[in-house]
Amino acid sequence: MTSHQIRQAFLDFFRSKEHLIVPSAPLVAKNDPTLMFNNSGMAQFKDFFLGNGTPPSRRIADTQKCLRVSGKHNDLEDVGFDTYHHTMFEMLGNWSFGDYFKKEAITWAWELLTEIYKLPKDRLYVSVFEGNSADGVPFDQEAWDLWKPIVGEDRIILGNKKDNFWEMGDTGPCGPCSEIHVDLRPEAEVAEISGKSLVNNDHPQVVEIWNLVFMQFERKADGSLIPLPSTHVDTGMGFERLCMAVQNKTSNYDTDVFQNTIQVLETLSGKKYGAGTEPFADIAMRVISDHIRAVAFAITDGQLPSNVKAGYVIRRILRRAVRYGYSYLGFKEPFFYKLVAVLADQFKDVFTELKAQEEFVTRVILEEEKSFLRTLESGLKRLDNITSSLKQKEVNVIAGEEVFELSDTFGFPVDLTALIAREKGFEIDETGFQDALAEQKKRSRQDAAKEATDWIELREADKVEFLGYDFEETHSHIIKYRKVKTKTGEEYHIVLDRTPFYAEMGGQIGDTGVLVLNPTSSSNEGKTIRIVDTKKENDLFVHISRDKNLDEALQQAGIIVARIDTERRNKIKANHSATHLMLSSMREILGSHIGQKGSYLNDEVLRFDFSHFSKVTDQELQKIEDRVNEKIREDIALEERRNVPIQQALDLGATATFGEKYGEFVRLIIFDPKFSFELCGGTHVPSTGKIGVFKFISEGSVSAGVRRVEAVTGEKALELMRQQEETLNKIKDLLKGPTDLVKAVESLLDERNNLQKRIAALELEKIQTLKTGLLARLEKHKTFSLLVEKVDVPNAESLKQLSYELRDQVENLIAVFGTEIAGKPQLSVFIAESIVQETGLNAGKIVKDLAKEIRGGGGGQPFFATAGGSDASGLERALEKAKDLF
Ligand code: ALA
Repeated sequence: MTSHQIRQAFLDFFRSKEHLIVPSAPLVAKNDPTLMFNNSGMAQFKDFFLGNGTPPSRRIADTQKCLRVSGKHNDLEDVGFDTYHHTMFEMLGNWSFGDYFKKEAITWAWELLTEIYKLPKDRLYVSVFEGNSADGVPFDQEAWDLWKPIVGEDRIILGNKKDNFWEMGDTGPCGPCSEIHVDLRPEAEVAEISGKSLVNNDHPQVVEIWNLVFMQFERKADGSLIPLPSTHVDTGMGFERLCMAVQNKTSNYDTDVFQNTIQVLETLSGKKYGAGTEPFADIAMRVISDHIRAVAFAITDGQLPSNVKAGYVIRRILRRAVRYGYSYLGFKEPFFYKLVAVLADQFKDVFTELKAQEEFVTRVILEEEKSFLRTLESGLKRLDNITSSLKQKEVNVIAGEEVFELSDTFGFPVDLTALIAREKGFEIDETGFQDALAEQKKRSRQDAAKEATDWIELREADKVEFLGYDFEETHSHIIKYRKVKTKTGEEYHIVLDRTPFYAEMGGQIGDTGVLVLNPTSSSNEGKTIRIVDTKKENDLFVHISRDKNLDEALQQAGIIVARIDTERRNKIKANHSATHLMLSSMREILGSHIGQKGSYLNDEVLRFDFSHFSKVTDQELQKIEDRVNEKIREDIALEERRNVPIQQALDLGATATFGEKYGEFVRLIIFDPKFSFELCGGTHVPSTGKIGVFKFISEGSVSAGVRRVEAVTGEKALELMRQQEETLNKIKDLLKGPTDLVKAVESLLDERNNLQKRIAALELEKIQTLKTGLLARLEKHKTFSLLVEKVDVPNAESLKQLSYELRDQVENLIAVFGTEIAGKPQLSVFIAESIVQETGLNAGKIVKDLAKEIRGGGGGQPFFATAGGSDASGLERALEKAKDLF
């Protein structure tokens, strides 16, 4: 079976068991503060387990793009060194949300593996949770009893909490699990050592392929477990490992999932994968063919490489790949970007989003590679400097801080430093490096510190209702709250059963407003809590307050009124609708390639990042601005359609943004179906006229292939125009109200240039006159001519000019000048080169000595030196002293 057929067989099998097949969520996790990337198939369904929302079906199956490179599940450093760990991998999963449980999960898994994929039964082992007394979870007798008749007791292994109790993160839904392992070793080896003894022992051919999790608990922040309202099934099968097993290979990289990219790498490098002569070249090919998937799909789903958070994780993966290519495959020029095309074709029917953005993704990777290769070069130079200075000191260990600096500041990877160091006969201080790294981690943990208590549940609620599309105020109840310590103080996070507050999402900022507690009760009547922000956490709307000491009031609150700041919301709406009009106008004017790469809007400004490969010119900006304002004046009524099946919306031509997670049903925001037709969860003006006016305020580049514009609307645009008008008026006033302001400024600049020229000429003239006067006062001595004078010159530089001009006319000159520039004394000493050579006199030393009189200091060369001081009254004394010297 090909990998395509294997994937399809999985989906078809579960469809036949009445599962709804859904698309993969984007690789980049949204609205989940505990997760950067989706790390398992269940991540997008987390809330359904916790009871915060209703799944579209009680049985679901899919293939999910996962990334395990941060947080609890992190395999990055293993990738490439073994044959079965990956950064990005596909997880095939089937779920029951309060529907079937262990029996069906186990029987179906067995049926699929042995009857459809035809894996040999005598090569499969299963594990069952042995129980954990500290957590109070018993041995999973039920799973044991179900497996026993299927596989026989001797194929069942008991597993501990580490292997057989699955948790998504430090908190969240969890439960005992039962894993299925496959033994892919050759017969001879199997006869010698039993596969059972190799399960969970890091053997590359005895690996786990499927994990069946029986979700029963929620892990709270204090470490305790509480039972979930109902039981669920969450399974995850590693697609790449399954392909290895079904295709009877001994490495994931030998399957058709990776072979395409490996073959391209072979052609580009001229090396043969698996030839056995260069083990590091093989590792490099595995690293690269793995990492290109993570990087390409992350960028496709909206996560560009950057220097912070998730963007930094992607940048590091990209650099790891490029470095392996550089060090072991001889790639000194960008190469990684060339693999995008291979993947885009391979996945064109599975994850269509990559093919659709192939050019963009390729471009982003190419630019990143170029910049990293530059970094590598400068890192290499720096490393050279370090080793040559150590050589002089006869030290052969590079200090931990240096290694850390190379990695932190120059992005130069530690293992590469170690490798190159070794080649040059040096070691690195690994412990010192680890210490520096730990220190930095500690600092960033302190920076990011946010400690949350567990939720304090006040009321049961089936679901949380968002009513903010239709209401600005609702009657609600508080379901739960928690306290969160932040760097700046303490926050209360409050969840309501119904709310008009829009939670930050899709680029639109969260609402602010108030909660009025117990509006009708006599105790605590009308206590008002200010809400400063609203954020989405999975499917919860979290209202954030920084008011103090709210516990008692929250706990006693009965009915409350939740009211948003309407004026602020209206401005936000205008900016959001304007963003839609702007995007359509951009597509008309700049081309249909314009794709949304980021959006942020609040009540003041709208910011929009988009894929485009050149600067948007002023003329283009103006055209876009004109088009948007035209659409505003047309006062197009909003057509909002809720609960439209996603496929129907896409068939109608709605624009979806890559990397956004859409449910089965979506909301459409339409301003004239022929003009702007988008999938959107935000809030919008009832008709475009309400936007008032639209004005760009900036355009620039964010990263390779991504531009950013900022714009304002309505009152803010007016305010901006007023400010500009005010500035202009002030300038006009200063210029005494000219009729043509531009001309007036131009002539002012001309005048200034002319004046500057005249000043320069006059100064020159002055110096010439001065020079003539000075020449007349020259004191002739036997071996030299002396001038010690206080002069009036325009600037300190003139002293030099004057001395040099006199030198050209007077032989063996010694000239000491004093002057005052803007009240500050200045001195200069000139001694003809010939005198310096003969006598050893030194202008620098002399000027230093003279400068004491003016309370200053200076220096220069033996033939010319200057000094500045702070006491002008000492200038005469300094000159007298000079006269005595010669
Ligand atoms: N959520 C389970 C896992 O990732 C299936 O292993």
